[in-house]
Parts: sequence; C-alpha cells; structure tokens
Amino acid sequence: MSNSNGQAISDKSSKTTLSDKENGLDFKYEILSENHRNYDLSFKIIVIGDCGVGKSCLTINAVRNIFDESYNSTVGFEFFTFNVKINDKVIKLQIWDTCGQELYRPLITNFYRNSSLAIMVYSINSKETFDNIEMWLKELRTHSNPDAKVFLIGNKIDLENERQVTKQMGEKFCKENKLSLFLESSAKTGLNAQNIFIKAAKILFDEYNNYQKIEDTGEKKNNSQQEKPNQRINNKKIDNKPRKNHGGCC
Ligand code: GTP
Ligand code: MG
Repeated sequence: MSNSNGQAISDKSSKTTLSDKENGLDFKYEILSENHRNYDLSFKIIVIGDCGVGKSCLTINAVRNIFDESYNSTVGFEFFTFNVKINDKVIKLQIWDTCGQELYRPLITNFYRNSSLAIMVYSINSKETFDNIEMWLKELRTHSNPDAKVFLIGNKIDLENERQVTKQMGEKFCKENKLSLFLESSAKTGLNAQNIFIKAAKILFDEYNNYQKIEDTGEKKNNSQQEKPNQRINNKKIDNKPRKNHGGCC
C-alpha cells in the first residue's frame, strides 16, 4: 500500500478486542468502524503538541490502523472519529487533531473550550518538544473547561536509540501536574495508539456514569463538583459549566 507520493504505508488489519488486561484495559470493549453511525454518548477530544511529534500519525493509526512515513503538516486542524463500545454503550470520540504551528494557536484555543479531554503529545527523541509541554498545558488551562482531563503522551518510542526524554521524566511531569494519564507510544508500530483513545473513552464514560449515579440516587450536588461532563447524548448537546479540576492519577 502506498500514499499519493508513492511512499510506503503500512496497513494493519482492523482490530477488535474484548478486554486486554496486559495493557491496563481490564474492561470489556470493542473497537468499531470509523463510520459507525449510532452512538449512545459522544465526547470531544483535542490533540495538541509541537509540530512533527506525531499527533496526526498517532490519531490516524488509532482510527484507521495505518502509518504514513511522509510528513504532511496539518493545516489548522483535522477531524476524526473513534468509536468504541464499552459495557454495551457506543461511545463516539470526536477528535480534533490540531497543528503545532504557532500561527494557528489562536484558532486552536477555540477548540479547547469545548473539549472534555486533551491529549498532549511530545516525541521521546526531542527534549525541546517535551520542554514545550509546559507551555501547551498552560495554554490549555487558560482556555479549556477547568474540568477537562489531560493525557500526556511520549510518542516515537520506536526511536529508542535516539531517546532524549526518559520515561521517568514523563511520569514525573504527569504526577506533578495531576494529569489523568501518561503513556509512551509509537504511531509507527501502533504501540498504545488505540489504547490512548480507549482509555480516554473509558475515563469520560466513568465520569458520566458517576454523575448519573448521583442524579439517580437523588443526591444533592455538592457546590459545582458534580456537573455533567461536557458531552452529547444521542446527539443532544448537554452543556457543562466550569467546575474544579480534581485531577487524577498516573
Ligand atoms: P503537525 O501537524 O505539523 O503539528 O505535526 P504532527 O504532530 O501531526 O506530526 P505527524 O503526525 O505529521 O508526524 C510527523 C513525522 O513524524 C512524520 O514523518 C511521521 O511519519 C513521523 N512519525 C510520527 N509518529 C512517529 C512514530 O511513532 N515513530 C516514528 N519513527 N516516526 C513517527
Ligand atoms: Mg498533524
């Protein structure tokens, strides 16, 4: 298989899995086609980070199981969908894959506001892209819903011999900044590409369920702590009000 420039694209067959304990996915899930139409819940996700760290490749690998060796910098942003069934509910992730170029930052900040979760990506073979994560997090926290979850991803782990950022550095940053998840990945080999989005869907689904439980049992909202996560249910928008960020674990 090749792209329009005649360069090789590796094409892996589509994967459907039911529970994968080895990768920390100890729940029942099934990855559905990108074009799957019906869904129960939908969440918006934004992918951010420096130019060339592999944001687009990682997203495309997760959604379409392909890897393209050529570098086609994203212009502004691109939109993808990732559908996964968790505990008999179909969750649609609407993914905004953004461009790392400074020129487009003002445009991107508009997407921060409506996102339930942000995936910040650096490449393990570039210390500079890791150092810039602090800036990306600051941008995010300035413009996003304060309750938005944040993942940190060290990509290009297949380039181990060029590594400039250790795994411990990523873990430390995640812990210190109370991010929800840190993972290393490779868009080239596919390592953790789908796991990132499955875990995103699960974390948002759990948050939604927790909210539902509280509503169903008639428990009173405690200040603004129990607002509904930013989402759509059967395509009806449910607005979210800002609330405190109560972080997560690494
Ligand atoms: P912008 O859209 O410009 O912000 O860049 P991006 O972060 O979307 O990067 P993109 O996905 O376009 O990848 C940039 C280059 O890195 C491409 O040549 C990819 O083939 C390569 N690349 C991406 N991910 C990996 C990876 O995991 N391993 C290796 N070896 N190369 C990768
Ligand atoms: Mg891109």
